[in-house]
Amino acid sequence: MKKSVFVSRQLPGEGLRRLSEVCELKVWPDPGPISPELLRGEMSGVHGLLCMLTDRIDRSLIASLPELEFVSSMSVGVDHIDVGAMTNRKLPVGHTPGVLVETTADTAFALLLAAARRIAESDRFIRHGQWSPSNVWSPDFFVGKDLGGATLGIIGLGEIGKAVARRATGFGMKLVASNRSAVSVPGIDILPLEELLASSDFISVHVALTDDTRNLLSAERIALIKPGAVLVNTARGGIIDEAALAQALTDGRLSAAGIDVFSEEPITRDNPLLNLPNVVLTPHIGSASARTRNRMADMAVANAIAALAGEAMPCCVNPQVYV
Ligand code: GLV
Repeated sequence: MKKSVFVSRQLPGEGLRRLSEVCELKVWPDPGPISPELLRGEMSGVHGLLCMLTDRIDRSLIASLPELEFVSSMSVGVDHIDVGAMTNRKLPVGHTPGVLVETTADTAFALLLAAARRIAESDRFIRHGQWSPSNVWSPDFFVGKDLGGATLGIIGLGEIGKAVARRATGFGMKLVASNRSAVSVPGIDILPLEELLASSDFISVHVALTDDTRNLLSAERIALIKPGAVLVNTARGGIIDEAALAQALTDGRLSAAGIDVFSEEPITRDNPLLNLPNVVLTPHIGSASARTRNRMADMAVANAIAALAGEAMPCCVNPQVYV
């Protein structure tokens, strides 16, 4: 008998057709995400789950699914899955690294440029009818910050961090980075995090959200950031103390920020970042190009198909389950 797999969203590309050939497939049909309650119901008796980063696969859900054999997420980050609980049961968790590197680096750089040059603020200014004969070009009209010659501090020099560094080199930026493990990249000075914060004009965050990186940019560390710096986050919201960031932006200690990821998604209406003119906000779209989303879907399907065949997933977060 074929194994059963639940997919929590429609996927782009041909992946679902391939998956349907090797399992009993059920795909969540609605255009919006499945609720946690309905996901629990759909998962009952299911062998495999192909999920999104919006689905919370926690310890209690995993414990309630004795038949579960694998989870494959269409995301590189897996902080929405209790990987420890999966590993304890020797169940693999798949993810989609690599394919979204350049697209996410593009998003980080778009936010960096937009924040530096006040692009979103300028757009709002025109749309709100404020560009009037008494409010036009002048020496200090919408002045921002230059990238050329400025120092970019990259927190987390993995593949996305390195891709951001390549872009920054083209803009004539100096590069420093901090990384948990020893790493050496020509042209990038590796610094302790505190030194990076104190010496960078721009900072871009590229670490995964784990127990070690939660609140990495705490209020105390935000206080160490060089006055007037610009902060960009395309990694995960929980890495930065959002209230402390909003305060630093309000006080003018930081000149601007570009933020794609939030402690709570979707953002709540009382999030203080919403009221700040010097913040560019995007709704978690780091990997959102058509080509990349197709590739991510294909990888998530390939991980699921391997697991169904009893083979090792090509991209497994917890490969120790196979030994
Ligand atoms: C996006 O945030 C991802 O983890 O793929």
